[in-house]
Amino acid sequence: MILKTPPMGWNSWNTFGQNINEKIVRDTADAMVELGYLQAGYEYVVIDDCWSMRERNENGDLVADPEKFPSGMKALADYIHSKGLKFGIYSCAGVRTCEGHPGSYAHEYRDARLFASWGVDFLKYDFCNFPRSADCKTAYRTMALALRNSGRDILFSACNWGTKEASSWMRGVGAHMYRSCWDIHDCWESMKNIINLQMSNFNGNAAGCFNDLDMLTVGMLGRGNVGEENCCTQIEYETQFAFWCLCGAPLLMGSDICNMDSANRELLLNSELIKINQDAECRPACVINPTRVEFDPLIFVRLLDGGDIAIGLFNLNDAKKKAECIFSDLGIPYSAGKALLLTDLFSGEEILRREDIRTDIEAHGCKLYRARFVDA
Ligand code: GLA
Repeated sequence: MILKTPPMGWNSWNTFGQNINEKIVRDTADAMVELGYLQAGYEYVVIDDCWSMRERNENGDLVADPEKFPSGMKALADYIHSKGLKFGIYSCAGVRTCEGHPGSYAHEYRDARLFASWGVDFLKYDFCNFPRSADCKTAYRTMALALRNSGRDILFSACNWGTKEASSWMRGVGAHMYRSCWDIHDCWESMKNIINLQMSNFNGNAAGCFNDLDMLTVGMLGRGNVGEENCCTQIEYETQFAFWCLCGAPLLMGSDICNMDSANRELLLNSELIKINQDAECRPACVINPTRVEFDPLIFVRLLDGGDIAIGLFNLNDAKKKAECIFSDLGIPYSAGKALLLTDLFSGEEILRREDIRTDIEAHGCKLYRARFVDA
């Protein structure tokens, strides 16, 4: 299975945690279609941890919790497929999941067969309770091979939190995406940590296997499982979404999309931002001023299919700052005789610049432009 662009969808963990159930999943699937998410590209509906019974059955198979999922996983998958969506589920490379449900360690081929028989299209594979005597790479390769031989195309979402230098081998063992960070929480500190961590991490991202920055918290407004009292502000949600898009990271919404405000719905449906995320060339973004991380707004450039570039200016400081993006630093010296026609992807405003962009950026805010070369 060749993944050409970063996967998009929804995952239950950020909002619902242990309290996931069939009604929530069905309602979310309905909302994905009715509110325009599917049309915008969000296609996977993924159930995270806590969907199964605490023990396998007498055959050794995983069993969906009948109180949470009374119709069973096959029926739920059928429902999701009937809406034109794809169905994702969760397991763990360890002996138990992070919440203590049975993991797939030493049951990989059996579990992959079962998932395929249910109609699963996506497997998130976690790393809790992993035996000390076992080898992480081998464990992820084993599940990748089990999925590839299950008789069904199943996207393999590896989640060892970026440990053991995951970015250097996850592609090789068969993952389609790999988490490069610890769990996100719905607050600025968490988001800033994830952004800073990417400075040394951009280059792993490419078609076939994408660098996963974790599920989005956009629109959570402090509610739910990873919600925080000091939750993100609207500006911080914009920064989060813009950063995930600029990086070409998988876009898995984590909010309760059935009960989300319109500002965040519009943000998640911003087609210009999604277009950057889904750019066909899948090139990683480059940071122009990595050493200035604590001081000036960070400046990023990403080469896009067809000749445009994306320029991102991100202010991680707690105060307003001026961003100074000098085009010769991007590879466009004055002598090139070129100017950039910049479209601000939040406001839609267009500006023509010959040498630089100098603009104030509010605390924790960002600007993201698509830029077209024009003769100066
Ligand atoms: C780990 C993962 C999370 C989530 C939980 C579920 O912490 O990193 O994304 O899947 O487990 O228990």
